[in-house]
Amino acid sequence: MTTSSNQNSGDNQYVLGAENAAEMARIMDQDKLTNESMGGLFPERRDHLEHIHSILDVACGPGGWVHEVARAYPHIDISGVDISAIMVEYANAHARVSRLANAHFQVMNALVSLNFPDNAFDLINSRFLLGFMSPPAWPKLVQQCMRKLRPGGTLRMTESEGFGIINTPAMGRLNELSLRAMFKAGRSYIPEGRSYGITAMLERYLREAGIVDIRTQGYGFNYSAGAPLHESWCANFTTALQLLRPFMTQMTQVVSATEYDDLVQQAQIEMLSDEFIGISYGLTVWGTKPAAYVPTS
Ligand SMILES: C[S@@+](CC[C@H](N)C(=O)[O-])C[C@H]1O[C@@H](n2cnc3c(N)ncnc32)[C@H](O)[C@@H]1O
Repeated sequence: MTTSSNQNSGDNQYVLGAENAAEMARIMDQDKLTNESMGGLFPERRDHLEHIHSILDVACGPGGWVHEVARAYPHIDISGVDISAIMVEYANAHARVSRLANAHFQVMNALVSLNFPDNAFDLINSRFLLGFMSPPAWPKLVQQCMRKLRPGGTLRMTESEGFGIINTPAMGRLNELSLRAMFKAGRSYIPEGRSYGITAMLERYLREAGIVDIRTQGYGFNYSAGAPLHESWCANFTTALQLLRPFMTQMTQVVSATEYDDLVQQAQIEMLSDEFIGISYGLTVWGTKPAAYVPTS
């Protein structure tokens, strides 16, 4: 249950800070909100995962999704890997106290390698990796996943498009700044766009790696006034914005730290208005590794 290794833990590209307790707490909240907004752990599936016995979750954070899968499907052995030592330590401790003997966590840098035997997993999952991935890194990671999946196994990836559609000035401005910062940092795809573009790319990455029977399912993360998860999503996004301050001010160089703080404060006030509209979009893309797969490298 408690395998842990520091292997590959070197270089950290995560814009929100991997060894940060506030970010760990934020991810724990986000995990619950995301599961609720998406309608479950595997909302796209109608089966009970009877034929799935081993799962890998790439960049699992403090392990919320892994713990829930381990609890709901005791016949599945599930591993989570993350670059963050504090998150992996928490994930292992939680698995131990919750007696989830089928959940394991290791420190691992997914940008370097997935250090498992080839053909080891029936399903590989990832969610919200944009904060450390870049366009050249995606095909490499998908290739790695292909190797680690057994033939017939499922690769399943979920990403979102940031803060989405917003009707207020400060939150709108922060969204623009985040899009600009991510593009400048070489993390996203659309220079002048209103989105990162990652959800449009996932299907291509899977197809180019040789995945077949690709399907997609979209989700709305509604944080508008009056939406059931309005308050919780707004608190989560505000925390994310606070943690993003060093990255945003450094990458955009158009707002000072003080101006940035004022914008975040103004955005918080806007979110309290009955008229506030905010909805972010996510996409899950999944498909199958064919039996006849031949690795390309
Ligand atoms: C937004 S969180 C998503 C966590 C989890 N997948 C979820 O949906 O709840 C992104 C995670 O990526 C991790 N991360 C950042 N760089 C990484 C890397 N190179 N290899 C593995 N994990 C990494 C961070 O520590 C963080 O836990």
